Amino acid sequence: MIIAVDGPAASGKGTLASGLARHYRLPYLDTGLLYRAVGRAVEAYEDSEQFEERAIAAALTLDEGDIDPEFLLSAKIGTLASKVAVIGAVRRALFDYQRDFATQDNGAVLDGRDIGTTICPEADVKLFIQADSKARMERRARQLEARGQAVDRYALYHQIEERDARDMANPNGGFYKANDAHLLDTTLLDIEAALRAAIAIVDGTMARKAEASL
Ligand code: C5P
Repeated sequence: MIIAVDGPAASGKGTLASGLARHYRLPYLDTGLLYRAVGRAVEAYEDSEQFEERAIAAALTLDEGDIDPEFLLSAKIGTLASKVAVIGAVRRALFDYQRDFATQDNGAVLDGRDIGTTICPEADVKLFIQADSKARMERRARQLEARGQAVDRYALYHQIEERDARDMANPNGGFYKANDAHLLDTTLLDIEAALRAAIAIVDGTMARKAEASL
């Protein structure tokens, strides 16, 4: 079974996707980390003419060792990730890695922005997670604080809005809800309630598919 989980920054998709992976005993890939690793690799070139070329080179040579969440979860790296994510050649370079992960035996759970639309259009279950901007900011602030980082909530709110705007305008992205994705709004849900709702959607979808194939 392949489960695709998409949604905007700090919507709770990572927590839900990893919870689903544990529940169904499936391997899990946070695809945002790939873009973050490329963004981190070109941090020194952010304002340089070489930014694009360096980002493509970093995406082509990315390996497991670069994908360490410990160094990738800051808001600054999130912004850099969204800047490299608009480069078509970067997206193409990261495509095969994501595709291979998704199509391994027994299935997988992937979360990101374009999983249900581009990486795994054939996924068995697609979820699109949303939450309002203030709730997303507060969640991300608490995550960062739990990691010992000081947070300016006003600046973080604007960073999230700015990243959303860049993501929505991404000419090379597929950052929209796939037609066959289930919408789950987590604004008013805590983690447990959101996970229960997601599991109910996955179980219901798989049961309907099994029935239809009889
Ligand atoms: O999900 P996360 O916030 O870690 O993603 C960081 C950035 O990486 C996003 O804002 C987006 O620009 C990019 N991204 C992407 N496609 C994905 C996952 C993330 O373009 N599948």
